[in-house]
Amino acid sequence: MPGRPDGVSRVEPTSAWPALRGIAYGGDYNPEQWPRETWRDDVRLMREAGVTLVSVGIFSWALLEPAEGEFDFAWLDEVIDLLHENGIRVDLGTPTASPPAWFFAAHPDARVIDRDGRVMGFGSRGMASHSAPAYREAIVRIASALAARYADHPAVVLWHVHNEYGVPVGEDYSAHSVAAFRTWLRERYGNLEALNAAWGTAFWGQRYTAWEHVGAPAIAPSVVNPAQRLDFARFTDAQLRACFRAERDAIRAHATQPITTNFMANQSWTTDLWKWAAEVDVVSDDSYPWAADPENEIGLAMASDLTRSVAGGAPWILMEHSTSAVNWQPRNVAKRPGEMARNSLAHFGRGADAVLFFQWRASRSGAEKFHSAMLPHAGTSSRVWREVVQLGADLGKLAEVQGSRVVADAAILWDFESAWAQDLEWRPSVELDHKERTRAYYERLWRDRITVDFALPTHDLAQYPLVIAPAQYLLTARGAANLERYVAGGGTLVVSYFAAVVDEHDRVHEGGYGAPLATALGLRVEEFLPLREGEVTTVAYGGAELTADAWQEHLVLEGAEVRGVHQGGPAAGGPAVTRHSHGRGHAWYVSTRLDPAGLAAVMADVYADAGLAPADAPEGVELVTRRGPDTDYLVAVNHRDTPARIPATGRELLADAPVEGALELPGGAVAVVRTPHGATGDTAS
Ligand code: GLA
Repeated sequence: MPGRPDGVSRVEPTSAWPALRGIAYGGDYNPEQWPRETWRDDVRLMREAGVTLVSVGIFSWALLEPAEGEFDFAWLDEVIDLLHENGIRVDLGTPTASPPAWFFAAHPDARVIDRDGRVMGFGSRGMASHSAPAYREAIVRIASALAARYADHPAVVLWHVHNEYGVPVGEDYSAHSVAAFRTWLRERYGNLEALNAAWGTAFWGQRYTAWEHVGAPAIAPSVVNPAQRLDFARFTDAQLRACFRAERDAIRAHATQPITTNFMANQSWTTDLWKWAAEVDVVSDDSYPWAADPENEIGLAMASDLTRSVAGGAPWILMEHSTSAVNWQPRNVAKRPGEMARNSLAHFGRGADAVLFFQWRASRSGAEKFHSAMLPHAGTSSRVWREVVQLGADLGKLAEVQGSRVVADAAILWDFESAWAQDLEWRPSVELDHKERTRAYYERLWRDRITVDFALPTHDLAQYPLVIAPAQYLLTARGAANLERYVAGGGTLVVSYFAAVVDEHDRVHEGGYGAPLATALGLRVEEFLPLREGEVTTVAYGGAELTADAWQEHLVLEGAEVRGVHQGGPAAGGPAVTRHSHGRGHAWYVSTRLDPAGLAAVMADVYADAGLAPADAPEGVELVTRRGPDTDYLVAVNHRDTPARIPATGRELLADAPVEGALELPGGAVAVVRTPHGATGDTAS
């Protein structure tokens, strides 16, 4: 399991999640949007649906603190007591993602300014500067007041700080932020000489002679120093975490329940979730796959695997997803019958021990009134409601799976800092989007049902027979040494192009691109050879011809064997795919953008090196194993309309039926089979 990043301290929870028995079920509950009479109806229907946990108060600041320092908890007391009387537990939010109007009237300087210099207005959310002293003071005040009041309430089992840090506001260019950035830089570099060296300010005459001259990388006539932008991304992440810590510690002064904040693994690139996971007591995530993607189950799985990985493999909370359509995509495609259950149980299969939605009851007013909910505008005479009730009943049958851990077969490197650096402007080609290759490799493994953990290059990787580095543009000497040791120790490493190019300051590693990995890969990259838009080439690979585009490199071999040769483009006749035996392991280098079929051909050979075999099942069937102390649980999701037959033996928990040799999975269905350890074909431990 990946270790925690160094240098990050962790507050020990004084009580551990899970506080609930079984798989928690529910969603965001916003009773303040409804008259009191509705509340009783809500809890009655929650019970009907099997709801066990709701998140309350996430956007309630204006009601809870109607004027600075004046609190009104009467309505919240009533709501929490009502939930408690009905056996529904509470995940209590701090409302700090949306400060009240009086706050901005009193502190206009606390508004966020974006990179273009626009001051953010009121009437939305995420409008406050995380660096403004008034904001910091106010969030601690409201978090402390809530914690003091509800610390001992028996219904409150979890604290939910803020909402989705980094979304919609991450970077802030206000005066408070610039001042805080300078302080952060002083702490990081100590003196200006070190800052000038790290940022390479000799270029374009940027050299600084006074700290007061250093600013945020606001929009400028041309491209702003990428090292400065990378540090601003790090600073932004650190500022957001400082706000979380301030609230968390304020709560902890009063309360013992575990504390979380909801991540956005599939959307936010502002928060380094490896670092965040070390700060929370339990990891939680919001999952909103791109509805227009006909195979959005792959993105969903990827975000779930990342969430579980940052949690160190521990079960996590699916804090939000949608029962049907969202309201913020260009075309908000509604989920089809059965899709909500498939989505929910796919998250569960990848380690979620709580399945929650945004939100309980669909809003009548406001920006999100067209967002689906557990209780839709159509009311209980609706397909969505019937499916919500069914899902609650199904999750009730899966209680014994709680606490079991996903069995992973391979690791993919996922490094936020490298992504931040890679995706800046003026790279050798606009095709070098880190997400594109990460998804391409992940997708291959998803189709082969090889379950993935994500990891950092510095993590202990020895447990994985296969590690893939799809987009490791930034690689530190320490990370490179770790990857080299991994290969020497017997691992199989796959490195995709444009790797190990720069160090932590976005400075090019000398000695040929990829030099830090030269020993492991048995090669260096002499020159990048990006292709023209639309240019397609082929690679001779074994007896096959693979299709590639976008990118080639001039490789200089230092021991690697050539497995694929470019047949066209600027690198024609040169190596495209290589394999190097190093120590007891093997390192592959793929220096071009192979299409899915090409990647499949190479990965088949990689699997052979790693001793991995794709699981046997029809296309579109997702298979993941969760391992408990005594048994395995095979979670099978059929994303196609056609029935599937899967080798399995044990007991299917949803139908409570025996499975003898084969699981018959109807089109669109989900099954959870309790099997003896190791019987799912997943032998990794
Ligand atoms: C996010 C937020 C919710 C809501 C949903 C809508 O996840 O946390 O408050 O806006 O998006 O999809």
